[in-house]
Amino acid sequence: MSQVMQEKDAKLHTNLAGIAMNTPVLTASGTFGFGEEFADFVDLSRLGGVMVKGTTLKPRRGNDGVRITESPMGMMNCIGLENPGVEVFLKDTLPRIGQYGMNVIVNISGSTVEEYGVLAEMLDVEGVAAIELNVSCPNVKEGGIVFGTDPKAAAAVVREAKKHTKKPVILKLSPNVTDIVTMAKACEDAGADILSLINTLMGMEINIHTQRPTLGNITGGLSGPCIKPVALRMVWQVARAVKVPIIGMGGISCWEDAVEFFLAGASAVAVGTANFADPAVTMKICDGLNDYLAKRNLGSIQDIVGKVQIG
Ligand SMILES: Cc1cc2nc3c(=O)[nH]c(=O)nc-3n(C[C@H](O)[C@H](O)[C@H](O)COP(=O)(O)O)c2cc1C
Repeated sequence: MSQVMQEKDAKLHTNLAGIAMNTPVLTASGTFGFGEEFADFVDLSRLGGVMVKGTTLKPRRGNDGVRITESPMGMMNCIGLENPGVEVFLKDTLPRIGQYGMNVIVNISGSTVEEYGVLAEMLDVEGVAAIELNVSCPNVKEGGIVFGTDPKAAAAVVREAKKHTKKPVILKLSPNVTDIVTMAKACEDAGADILSLINTLMGMEINIHTQRPTLGNITGGLSGPCIKPVALRMVWQVARAVKVPIIGMGGISCWEDAVEFFLAGASAVAVGTANFADPAVTMKICDGLNDYLAKRNLGSIQDIVGKVQIG
């Protein structure tokens, strides 16, 4: 990264649980590949981090049939965690993407609590900045309960990961719950260093001509601008209830959206679906944040975190 670039973003420098970030703008897992695919559009070192594709113990083909459909102000996906598996990631991908000078945050999914521990230990290597736990997947062993909707199960996943790595552990909260604050507190108590939220909202679409679900998996994860109000509300609720830093995401597609998340209490933001419409959107968000701070004579992005005026 050039010196000019560092100075330009001086007000955006952030540190989350020991992870030094040039800017508090990251990219969300599953929407930005391994980062390298975007190197022609984005100065990857300017990002706070790239949360790479969901990684599992064994390679996964993902779901059959239609995996993506557009919906009003958003999209639905049921990719099904297609990925080459952790061994290929460690052997081939990680050494390759190390050259870009970005924080590599590895998003992991397990089908048992133990699997999260195994993955966390395997990824406790140089070049990995942090581990993000995706708990929005079924626990096969316990009869298909989703870790992400049961506070005890999510907490068990956090404890297991913490036991097996010295890296900061990020727990990614699912919005598909009645009470996100209970989930957040359980994960903080279990030792999560950072909370990220939100994952996709479960949705569905039916093709009226075939009278069948559009998606091969019947249901899919809704993302994009349509989920932003839900995500923002959840970030605000969680930020008031926990002490650990929050990475806010869900529908962020411009710098104004990002400012809303900071005001609601996020210390950093991640951009997902918006990368598909504009691969350089994260750079525009960094520029917009710099202008916003300059116009208000503020010295640091942290000056606006949680500063929403209520009452
Ligand atoms: C195509 C696609 C694939 C995704 N894959 C993952 C994944 O592997 N792991 C994960 O934790 N979240 C995954 N997500 C969720 C995103 O990381 C993010 O939490 C969500 O899309 C909300 O942000 P957005 O509205 O900015 O996209 C995926 C989202 C999309 C659209």
